[in-house]
Amino acid sequence: MKIKKNKQNSAPKKPKAKKTKDHRPRIKKHHQSVFKVLHQKHQQQKNQKIDELEMIAAKLAHEGDPEKPRNGSGGKKEVIVKVNEFNFFYNKGKKQALFDINMDIKENTITTFIGPSGCGKSTLLRSINRMNDLVEGSVSSGEILVFDQNIFDYGYDVTELRTDVGMVFQKANPFPISIYENVAYGPRSQGVKKKNVLDQLVQDALEKSAL
Ligand SMILES: Nc1ncnc2c1ncn2[C@@H]1O[C@H](COP(=O)(O)OP(=O)(O)O)[C@@H](O)[C@H]1O
Ligand SMILES: [Mg+2]
Repeated sequence: MKIKKNKQNSAPKKPKAKKTKDHRPRIKKHHQSVFKVLHQKHQQQKNQKIDELEMIAAKLAHEGDPEKPRNGSGGKKEVIVKVNEFNFFYNKGKKQALFDINMDIKENTITTFIGPSGCGKSTLLRSINRMNDLVEGSVSSGEILVFDQNIFDYGYDVTELRTDVGMVFQKANPFPISIYENVAYGPRSQGVKKKNVLDQLVQDALEKSAL
């Protein structure tokens, strides 16, 4: 009897010791995997930073040297807007604002129109996305090609043109609707319909504009 009792007493002690032993490696493994994830994340961020720095360095290396290519197409930039012999008249042809304009606008470049007040800068700019269509009595001749298509061709989709050629005005220029509807107008016309998506887009846009 005594021997049996001793056996029963000593038996439960063993699994207790085992439990603590099993638990330890699991905690260690968990720490190891957390460390691994953090390490991978750190490595990714480091690689991203390196890529960014390499891009900046490449850009700086080409600056001031017009012979060196600046983009993937071997330095050759495509003409995306081409103006051919363009004339523009207000007041049913009585007032000519633009005279035989010829110019190329290339991709990924900043192009400026410089000239005295009233020389026609805004008229030409507004013509490129056909905003002047809205001016009563305006007439034009010649061509403006955007991505090789004449924007005055019969049947040309003006709404699509305005998704490619946007305008930012000197003064705030909202439609006579709420600020929300003004900001949502763009994504809405691009087919975004979900209210929560529009809400998010409007909020992001206003926050980015510090409004
Ligand atoms: N809606 C309009 N109706 C009649 N004439 C206009 C109209 N808008 C501009 N003009 C005239 O067309 C010429 C070019 O104007 P504009 O394109 O605004 O010049 P800029 O932007 O270089 O100051 C100016 O003589 C101007 O008075
Ligand atoms: Mg102007």
